[in-house]
Amino acid sequence: MGRRSHRLFARWYPQAAASLEDRGLGEQRARLLAGAAGRVLEIGCGHGANFAHYPEAVTELVAVEPEERMRDLARAKAEELGREATVIDGQAEKLPLENDSFDAVVATLVLCSVEDQDRALAEIHRVLKPGGALICLEHVGSANRAIRTGEAVFDAVLWSHVFGGCHTGRDTGAAIDRAGFDTGALSPQRFPGLPFPLKVSPHLVGTARKPA
Ligand SMILES: C[S@@+](CC[C@H](N)C(=O)[O-])C[C@H]1O[C@@H](n2cnc3c(N)ncnc32)[C@H](O)[C@@H]1O
Repeated sequence: MGRRSHRLFARWYPQAAASLEDRGLGEQRARLLAGAAGRVLEIGCGHGANFAHYPEAVTELVAVEPEERMRDLARAKAEELGREATVIDGQAEKLPLENDSFDAVVATLVLCSVEDQDRALAEIHRVLKPGGALICLEHVGSANRAIRTGEAVFDAVLWSHVFGGCHTGRDTGAAIDRAGFDTGALSPQRFPGLPFPLKVSPHLVGTARKPA
């Protein structure tokens, strides 16, 4: 499956994201990943912003990332942290990995950007062991359906092109549900906590489970 590369985004995102890490995103990542354990796959790892937050209980970390610059930065981050991580080229929609082989899959700020969310989630479901966890922190569309339609239009004409294929209007919770996960432990959240609304403020955070 051919994917449009977003090289320009890959150049500026790591620096832009750094300011958010100190404004609460780093803490969110740490809280979210504290319970990760065993063999873990991270999809769309970007420059490896999650790597510092994986606990000792994670025995193996594999990360899939389609942008070469991001892969280079993620490998450098793993080395800097002294953490073993296998960072491979690939896309969530077509994971070059075996069925039922991971205890957890981590998706942070990436299901907004995959080209085909249903295919990506079907692949995540396939590689997870029964009972395995999809740990996610994703910004999602407004709960209001009419606003979501507006978001979809805005995404198509502008946002997606500037922000590396990102979409603001996706109903990611419904897609995770459709893929066959138990979504009971996912909860809506607003981030960052600003006094004014931001298009990417509504988030879905927590762990969905592949039935055992
Ligand atoms: C906004 S960045 C988030 C990076 C990282 N997950 C984080 O939390 O900072 C989105 C990442 O998803 C990657 N990406 C885009 N499409 C993808 C796909 N189809 N499969 C896997 N990763 C993808 C991008 O290259 C980029 O690194």
